[in-house]
Amino acid sequence: MRRPVVAGNWKMHGSRSANQALLTELERRVMPEWPVDIVVCPPYVYLADAVRTLEGGQIQVGAQDVCAEAGGAFTGQVSVAMLKDVGCRYVIVGHSERRRLNHEDDALVARKFTAVLQAGLTPVLCVGETLEEHEGHRAEAVVSRQLDAVIAMNGAASFAHAIIAYEPVWAIGTGRTATPQQAQGVHAYLRGRIAQQDAKIAGQLRILYGGSVKGGNAAELFRMPDVDGGLVGGASLSADEFQQICAAAALRDAVRH
Ligand code: 13P
Repeated sequence: MRRPVVAGNWKMHGSRSANQALLTELERRVMPEWPVDIVVCPPYVYLADAVRTLEGGQIQVGAQDVCAEAGGAFTGQVSVAMLKDVGCRYVIVGHSERRRLNHEDDALVARKFTAVLQAGLTPVLCVGETLEEHEGHRAEAVVSRQLDAVIAMNGAASFAHAIIAYEPVWAIGTGRTATPQQAQGVHAYLRGRIAQQDAKIAGQLRILYGGSVKGGNAAELFRMPDVDGGLVGGASLSADEFQQICAAAALRDAVRH
């Protein structure tokens, strides 16, 4: 059985004091026996603090982005070696906000994925279609294109060490969640694409859903056979909501049918 993952993408939110309070509260609420990989992704400047606060506990730390280059004259950027140095274990690559606002294309996202893998950290590759693409029934074509760029550069075998997050852009921060059936359809499609090249890796690959996941809808999403957890934005800033989402992931095997 695939172990579920719940990752909180804090985006550009937080402060030293608010983060400390949130993480301390989360540590108190997350049960060590829950069979879930739990990750928080604060902004770069707070990563080292978060690692220190969470040291020895169940919650791991990830970054929201990384530079594809190893080092050098790249003002304002952060390398994967630096992320590893401060104790990050996961790195989100290709989030739709970066694709849209920072003009990241599939090739750059694939290079970031490579950099993360080579450093021995776990890339969380985000894929997903816009509202226009969704309405044009192009979701599968879009996620295939995004996935293929990574497979072309790294091979399907690289997904033995990676996570995919399906994040339909129209569901991010909108309160409009994909239905469990919509999410399942795209997740099964993505898994099938990897299975064409390697069935074993496809069977073990964790595919997360992201887009308005909340405490109230997590259980029905995670009940789907190909939904292995969530990449959570807004609700990851509330200890109460995030705890409910982690609990739903922990209990999913009990409620699956
Ligand atoms: P929301 O959960 O706020 O919709 O954000 C999803 C997301 O973009 C996580 O990366």
